[in-house]
Amino acid sequence: MVGTYQKEYEESIREPERFWGKAAREIQWYKPFEKVLDDSRKPFYRWFVGGELNTCFNALDYHVLSGRGNQLAIIYDSPVTNQLKKMTYGELLDGVSRFAGLLRSFGVEKGDRVIIYMPMIPEAVVAMLACARIGAIHSVVFGGFAPNELAIRIDDAKPKLVVSASCGIEGKKLIPYKPLLDKAIGISNFKPEKCIIYQREQYQGTLIQGRDFDWEKEMVHASPVDCVTISSTDPLYILYTSGTTGKPKGVVRDNGGHAVALKWTMKYLYGVEPGDVFWAASDVGWVVGHSYIVYGPLLYGCSTVVYEGKPVGTPDAGAFWRVISEHKVKVLFTAPTAIRAIKREDPEGELLRQYDLSHFKYLFLAGERLDPDTYYWASRLLNRPVVDHWWQTETGWAIVGNCMGLDPLPIKAGSPTKPMPGYEVHILDSNGKILPAGAEGIVTIKLPLPPGTLLTLWQEDEKFKQTYLDMFPGYYFTGDGGYIDEDGYVYIMGRVDDVINVAGHRLSTGAMEEVIAKHPDVAECAVVGRKDEFKGQLPLGFVVLKSNVQRDHDEIKKELVQMVRDQIGAVASFKEVVIVPRLPKTRSGKILRGTIRKIVDGEIYTVPPTIDDPAILKEIEEALKTIRVESLYHFFNLFNKNGI
Ligand code: COA
Ligand code: AMP
Repeated sequence: MVGTYQKEYEESIREPERFWGKAAREIQWYKPFEKVLDDSRKPFYRWFVGGELNTCFNALDYHVLSGRGNQLAIIYDSPVTNQLKKMTYGELLDGVSRFAGLLRSFGVEKGDRVIIYMPMIPEAVVAMLACARIGAIHSVVFGGFAPNELAIRIDDAKPKLVVSASCGIEGKKLIPYKPLLDKAIGISNFKPEKCIIYQREQYQGTLIQGRDFDWEKEMVHASPVDCVTISSTDPLYILYTSGTTGKPKGVVRDNGGHAVALKWTMKYLYGVEPGDVFWAASDVGWVVGHSYIVYGPLLYGCSTVVYEGKPVGTPDAGAFWRVISEHKVKVLFTAPTAIRAIKREDPEGELLRQYDLSHFKYLFLAGERLDPDTYYWASRLLNRPVVDHWWQTETGWAIVGNCMGLDPLPIKAGSPTKPMPGYEVHILDSNGKILPAGAEGIVTIKLPLPPGTLLTLWQEDEKFKQTYLDMFPGYYFTGDGGYIDEDGYVYIMGRVDDVINVAGHRLSTGAMEEVIAKHPDVAECAVVGRKDEFKGQLPLGFVVLKSNVQRDHDEIKKELVQMVRDQIGAVASFKEVVIVPRLPKTRSGKILRGTIRKIVDGEIYTVPPTIDDPAILKEIEEALKTIRVESLYHFFNLFNKNGI
C-alpha cells in the first residue's frame, strides 16, 4: 500500500500539479510536458501542455516492448454466438497497426473524425485503438441507437469514414446494423466518404460499391503503421451524450490527461495490478466501455474482457459468475440494473455456487444510483466489497468512489463514499452558496477539473461554458442533486435536469419530447422519468391531443411508442403514454415537469408559487394521495377544472 486516501486526496487538492505530475511519470511521453496545469485561459484548463505522446503506444506497443507481448490483452466471450477468442498484446498490436494502416490508405489523417458503430466484438476495440494510433478522433455510437440518432452524430462530427459491422446480436435477437447505417447516411446532411464493414457470419450486409469496403478483405493487404506523435491536449475521442435537448453533447477527451488519469485509477481506485483480468460488463458505446473496457485496462497492462451477452438469458443468470470463474476475473464493473436482473432470476444466488470465484476481489457498480437493497443483496451473496462509484460521460472516470488500492474506507450503503483525488465536490444552493453537511442541493465540482475530464464540447466552446460552467462561476455543474454527510460521504440523489437513466443508459426526455411533438395529432407533451424497481427509471409520456382529434387513443399511443423506438432506439424503453386534456404549467407557460415527476413517483412536492389559490391546492393534495400512474388522467382533469 502506498498511502492513505486522506493523504493522497489532500495533496491532490492542495498541490494538484505535484500530484498529477507524479502520476504522469507512469506514462511514456515522446516529449515531456512543459507545464502540468495550464490555467491561463480560464475556465478552459489544459493538462500536461507541451507534452507529446500516443495513447495507442501506451496501451499496446509499450507493453509489447516491455515483455508483455504474450500476455492476453482481450478475452472475447460471446455466449450469443458461442465464441471464445483470445488475443495477446502482440496479436492486438499487429491487428491495430494494420487497421491503422488501412485507415491511412483510405485517406484518414490526424484530426479526421471516424465514427464507429459496432456491437461488442474485438474489432470495435481494434478500430478505436487504430484511430488513436494515427491521431484520428473516434466517435463511437452505441449500437442501440436508431438511424436518426446516428445521423445526428454524423452531421455533428463530420466523419471522413465510418467503421461498422453487418449486425449485432442482442440476447436472442439479430440486429442488422448495416441497413441502419445506410438509413442514417441517407438521412444525414453530411456524407462520409467511405465505410469499412466487418461482415459477421450471422448476417452479411450489402456493400455499396465505391463507398463500402469489407474489413477482412481489405485487411489482407493492409500494411502496418507506427504511432504518430500527438499533443497531450489534442482530442482522442468525441463521445456524444444525452443532454436536455434532442441534440446530444459531444464530449471531447484529450490524450495526455486521459492516459494519466485512467492509469492512476486502475491501481488506486480499482486495486488491480498489470496482468490481472479486468471486466467492465458495459458496451464500448458508453463511457464505461471507453474508459474501462478499452483504455484503462490496456494502459495498465491488464487483460480486458469483451463480453457480448447479457447478465441474464445468455443463457441464464449465472452468466456473470461463469465469466468471472472461467477467465479468473479480479474486478467486475457493471451497472446496478445488471445485478437487479440477476437477483430477479436467481434470488438465492444458487447459480453462483456452481462457480469458483476465488480470483474475484471487487464488484464495482456505477451508471445509476445503487439502491441499498441491491447493495446488501450483492455484498451478502458475494462476500466481497461491493463498491459504488459515481461518475459521468463528461468526467470519464469516477468523481466519488472508494479507493481499493489505497486504504478502503468503510462503506455506507447509499453513498458512493468520498470524492476521488482531484475532485473538490461542493453542494450548492440555487444561488451558489455552499450548503452545510446534510443539506441537499446541487452537486458541483470546484474548478479546475482533474486530468481526463472533458476539454469542451465538440466545436462548441460557448455551449460547454453555458451548460456546465456559467451557472455557478468557478464550479462545474454536474446536473445531479445530492448532499454530503457529516463524515464527508457524498450521496447522489438523481438528476436535477431532464436527463434520465434507464437500465444504466443515459437518455434525454427532451429528445423524446421532440419526437412525440412531431406526431400530427399531438398538441403538446411532456416526458418524465419515473422510478422503476428494475431499470432504475422508465420514461413516461404525457400527451395533449389537438382539439379536433377523434381517433382511438390506443392507436395514437402505439404510434408514439413506435416513433420513439424508430427515431431514438429500443434502448429508450419508451412504452407508456398517458393522454391528458392539459398539462400543468406555470402562469408563464412553463410545463411543471419537476412537479409531474414527483407526483408520478408519489413523492412529497412543493407547490409552485404561481399556483396561489389555497382551495385548489388542498383539493389537489387530496387527489394526489390516491393517484397512481394509471389514474393520473384524473389528476390532470382536476387541474383543468380548477383552471390552472
Ligand atoms: N443494440 C440494439 N438494441 C439494443 C442494444 C444494442 N446494443 N442494447 C439494448 N438494445 C435494445 C434491447 O434489445 C431492448 O429491446 P426490446 O425493447 O426490443 O426488448 C431495448 O433496447 C431495451 O434494452 P435494455 O434497457 O438493455 O433492456 P433489456 O431488458 O434488454 O436488458 C438488462 C436489461 C438489465 C439486462 C440490460 O439493460 C443490462 O445489461 N444493463 C446493464 C447496463 C449497462 O450495461 N449499462 C452501461 C453503463 S455501465
Ligand atoms: P453517464 O454519463 O451515462 O455515465 O451518466 C451519468 C449520470 O448517471 C450521472 O450524472 C448520475 O445521474 C448517474 N450516475 C452514474 N453513476 C452513479 C452512481 N454511482 N450513483 C448515482 N447516480 C449515478
